[in-house]
Amino acid sequence: MNAQIAVLAGDGIGPEVCAVGVQALKHIAQRFGHHFEFIDAAIGGIAIDQCGDPLPPVTIALCEQADAILLGAVGGPKWSDPNASVRPEQGLLKLRQALSLFANIRPVKPHKVALQFAPIKPELLMDVDLVVVRELTGGIYFGEKRKTEDSASDLCVYQRFEIERIVRVAAELARSRRGKLTQVDKANVLETSRLWRRVTTSVMRAEFPDVELEHMLVDSAAMHLISRPASFDVIVTENMFGDILTDEASMLAGSLGLLPSASLGGRKGLYEPIHGSAPDIAGLGIANPIATVLSAAMLLRHSLMLETEAAHLEAAVAKVLDTGPYPKDLRGNASTSEIAEAIFGQISSPQRYPAQHSHN
Ligand code: IPM
Ligand code: MG
Repeated sequence: MNAQIAVLAGDGIGPEVCAVGVQALKHIAQRFGHHFEFIDAAIGGIAIDQCGDPLPPVTIALCEQADAILLGAVGGPKWSDPNASVRPEQGLLKLRQALSLFANIRPVKPHKVALQFAPIKPELLMDVDLVVVRELTGGIYFGEKRKTEDSASDLCVYQRFEIERIVRVAAELARSRRGKLTQVDKANVLETSRLWRRVTTSVMRAEFPDVELEHMLVDSAAMHLISRPASFDVIVTENMFGDILTDEASMLAGSLGLLPSASLGGRKGLYEPIHGSAPDIAGLGIANPIATVLSAAMLLRHSLMLETEAAHLEAAVAKVLDTGPYPKDLRGNASTSEIAEAIFGQISSPQRYPAQHSHN
């Protein structure tokens, strides 16, 4: 197949890890006889430097025209003055909204080699295989903001349809997995949470009676993610709770450097590692590219409908994780390019691997 992929490398280690993601996709294209075209566009701090806008109109146009988007990371100390009027993160938020990417999918399935590095006992992590489905274009992130010299407010608003559509995405996913959905909120305090509970219950009763539904308060969910993480299948939650819980959940996988994400909903999907721009190691050639390569696998699966290719790429990564070389965050000393070469070698290897380590 022919596909056009927009590459928004962004800031910090973004360009280094994106370059590996692009190469991995090129190797997949070569092996399976596809033709992928890659087009770069600016987002985040680098876009602010270039034209004063963290999401220039040409970037939006390019994303709209592409079949899928691969993104590195945005932000860094250079642009984080609290008084600055434009911030790199605004570029990402605007892009999510412009493309209506309301469903953020963050799978967490630790590879066994990483378990020893997780700050939680390995025996609690062995059977962890969960996906957080985070609402991404509503809630407190996008409500009206006000400030005076001495006060500030951020409004949290949800409409019924915003909850219905994300619950459907999460419930479909749960149905294709172990059939359990945990809806997380703060219904003992917040009106928006009580709406979430009501709407979720009615969607699930009417459309997904076969999927088990549980409601959980966010503080309790934060605790259970540590005390019994293997008990979760699919978690669905609002924007900010999802932001916080996915960083917490990422620790179950041993390293942030291993976790991919997909933002879906609109006509295009956007794929990015969940780690940030890591300015402290930018340019050193030691960033772990695995989360970006696994994000590229999600791109193959969800935007290009190339399941076999996605599974092949995931299996290639799993194989490298089985044997090394390992990056610094997994206590190895391999460089970004050494890990990349090992993955490319597996992609092109004549052997075909079963998809033992599917990430979604
Ligand atoms: C994430 C990030 C973003 C968010 C930031 C960079 C705006 O933390 O994707 O989780 O809060 O959504
Ligand atoms: Mg976050």
